[in-house]
Amino acid sequence: MQPYSGSPANQAVYRAVAKPGDKIMGMPVTDGGHLTHGWKVSFSGMDYVQVPYGTNPETGKIDMDRVREIALRERPKLIWAGTSAYPLKLDYAAFAEIAKEIDAYLVADISHINALVIAGVHPDPVPYCDIVTSTSHKMLRGPRAGFIMSKIEDRYQQKYFPTSKFNLAQRIDRAVFPGLQGGPHMHAIAAMASAFAYAKTDEFKEYGRQIVKNARALVSAIIEKGYAVASGGTDTHLVVLDFRKEEFTGKDVSQALAKCGIIANFNMVPGDQRKPSVTSGVRLGTPSLTSLGMKENDMLKVADWIDQVCKNVHDIDKVAPRIRGEIAEYLKGFEIPGIRPKLI
Ligand SMILES: Cc1ncc(COP(=O)(O)O)c(C=O)c1O
Repeated sequence: MQPYSGSPANQAVYRAVAKPGDKIMGMPVTDGGHLTHGWKVSFSGMDYVQVPYGTNPETGKIDMDRVREIALRERPKLIWAGTSAYPLKLDYAAFAEIAKEIDAYLVADISHINALVIAGVHPDPVPYCDIVTSTSHKMLRGPRAGFIMSKIEDRYQQKYFPTSKFNLAQRIDRAVFPGLQGGPHMHAIAAMASAFAYAKTDEFKEYGRQIVKNARALVSAIIEKGYAVASGGTDTHLVVLDFRKEEFTGKDVSQALAKCGIIANFNMVPGDQRKPSVTSGVRLGTPSLTSLGMKENDMLKVADWIDQVCKNVHDIDKVAPRIRGEIAEYLKGFEIPGIRPKLI
């Protein structure tokens, strides 16, 4: 529980199982992966060689046969199963079979989906992976920090670390301290413990289930309004709007949404022909709205505002004050957990 955040947690994993210059397999940021899974502008892409796997541009899904093909050809030492902008479930069992075939470490990064795993609405990576990393902010609602879970013994000790007297868990501990960090941030660790205690409650599990119900309701409402969503839908908290067929871009919409009080980032979608600085997608997530107590019906309202923003995207200043006002009024019916009095 000592990593200062998600990226340092992932950095410790590299230090524990790989050497600079090793091949590692991860999803490019443009396909929904995270920077630390080997993207070139991050330490992970500078110090290690990324073997990329992505989504099928037609289906928007990860094709596990293709992942296997690339893995057998390139033989990376570490495989990341984890995403930041992919709305569907990950098949850890299939990743594990591939990793076993090539003697690679399998690491799940569940930063984005930890509450869904806890709630039982997303597969649990623990039985399949050597290591699992996560942030404790995002949907876990804890402090900005990171944590790492691992098997104690290293199944590849003889092959990759024959002279080391440390097992996998010890190498990870040592990679965090003294390898990468100094003193522990006890305030963050205490806050993480409190978040973990809350995550064990039925209330939290209900929250995890509702996140997915809300995301599915939002997808249906968005499709009903005539828009497309990436990957054909969602199994998680994410809804990625797909504007490849629209004349406006992801950037246009995310900036217009922000003017109306809806914060969402523009994002590449599978098969995107636009540049990463423009994109054809917008990434939305339901954890915050779910934390406010919103349910499926409320997603109809959210979809309606998004529709109004898209329809007025090039003339947003004319409608933004009205939409902002409507949202502020609507939010009076909801509370931020732990914060009183009522929002607004
Ligand atoms: C999948 C994934 N891993 C790691 C991180 C990195 O977390 P942090 O921003 O705490 O370094 C993020 C967050 O953006 C993420 O989405």
